[in-house]
Amino acid sequence: MELKLAQSRATALEADAIVVLEWKGSKQPELFKTLAPFYDSGEISGKPLEFTLLHGVEGYKARRVLIAGAGEREKLDAAGLRRIAGAAVRFLSGKGIASVAFGLDREGLGTAEFVEAAAEGALLGVWEPDRLKTDDKENSKPIGSLTIAVGDVKGLDAALNHARVVGEAANLTRDIAVEPPNVLTPLALADRARAMAEAAGLAIEVLDQDRMRQLGMGALLGVAQGSAEPPALIVIRYVPEKSSDPSTQLGFVGKGVTFDTGGISIKPAEGMEKMKYDMAGAASVIGAMQAIARLKPPVAVTGIIPTVENMPGGRAQRPGDIVKSLSGKTIEILNTDAEGRLILADAITYAKQLGCTHLIDTATLTGAIVVALGHLSSGAFTNNDALLEKWMAASKLAGEKMWHMPLDDEYRDLLKTVYADIGNIGGRYGGACTAAMFIKEFVGDTPWVHVDVAGTAWLDDAKPYMAKGPTGIPVGSFVNLALNWKA
Ligand code: BES
Ligand code: ZN
Ligand code: ZN
Repeated sequence: MELKLAQSRATALEADAIVVLEWKGSKQPELFKTLAPFYDSGEISGKPLEFTLLHGVEGYKARRVLIAGAGEREKLDAAGLRRIAGAAVRFLSGKGIASVAFGLDREGLGTAEFVEAAAEGALLGVWEPDRLKTDDKENSKPIGSLTIAVGDVKGLDAALNHARVVGEAANLTRDIAVEPPNVLTPLALADRARAMAEAAGLAIEVLDQDRMRQLGMGALLGVAQGSAEPPALIVIRYVPEKSSDPSTQLGFVGKGVTFDTGGISIKPAEGMEKMKYDMAGAASVIGAMQAIARLKPPVAVTGIIPTVENMPGGRAQRPGDIVKSLSGKTIEILNTDAEGRLILADAITYAKQLGCTHLIDTATLTGAIVVALGHLSSGAFTNNDALLEKWMAASKLAGEKMWHMPLDDEYRDLLKTVYADIGNIGGRYGGACTAAMFIKEFVGDTPWVHVDVAGTAWLDDAKPYMAKGPTGIPVGSFVNLALNWKA
């Protein structure tokens, strides 16, 4: 979808449809004097996400006007507008509408923050997960352009560009995450990363199984050995022309399990098809690196993606196996379904060997985080409050909710085993915390934030503003962390 700014009154813009916000309780239809019956009957009440589509509204050049309820003016923030914009384009989709305009030309709405929110929300809203459907989708040509009307375009280009870059990166993440697991194997994921990197001008290296064996990545390889699909470790590098903090190299690490059957500790059949999204963390790192290549933050960023398929097979690892990780630490496999932390362990050790000074990992790591936080917030764990503070600020700006989870030393006790340095599962309770504690064992003292997105990377049901399926979280947080980086 093409994004444009227009210094214009909303009334003067030509488009197939224009979205105009209406406030709650606005009994005097100031904008639409001829629409009194809609207001009198309560059909238009201005409550958030209420939409009324009208043709040929007097005074408007656009062919249709979509009156979008936006709540109270004082309460509308960027997150709210992002949702309204997403829901509006979804409401207009499938109606044969090619060009949409969005009126932000009044009441102080034409700010950088609101322009960015509207544009990004619309980009996220138009994305659909049905690319592999072959039946004719009647009248469902996607909306091709969005023009945002503002009073003064001066200084708004950067905001529009940020929205474009981040929205497209999130949608790339969603395109990759939604691919079926027979198509998106670990090597196919590496191909997708390579295609992105080459197009964006980033250096990329893909370590194959032999190389990983030479290096001693026993934890990652143990997970991969049950699958006929070979694993990979993808490294994507962004180096700024001029760094504001040359001693820093951010490392973004994403779990890339292209399908998680659970392995020998196999998962129940019901809902197992969803485990194709167990590479959503990896996909978000690919998307974030694309956005970073375009927005050029003043800090070095390396994306590290361990990718495997977790299958039960004649060669699969067993509960009871003990593997030697790249760090040298031995791990007793107590449950082969706790595989994400195993591949992250080796990827994080490798990231440190590459010189990463600060690490953020993101993973669909535990069902326990979904029990704890539901689908609203991702869980954020850290060994460094200063880095967490930066991460929280970045995620707030991006509208991606995070909740700080505990990581007390006592959780380490639950991972003790007799036969190896550490076991790969804790007890029955606090599963998201013991999983984070396991990863911390390999992070050591390097400042680090672990982001468990098992509950937030995927929507089981469509929202008014977003399709069912992958959400693109936490691409926006990654990008903001790098853009706003200060030593
Ligand atoms: N990929 C799953 C976690 C998951 C669960 C992601 C639900 C998305 C939705 C992970 O590999 C896993 O299976 N974790 C186990 C760990 C357990 C064996 C300690 C879990 O959460 O049940
Ligand atoms: Zn698993
Ligand atoms: Zn998994």
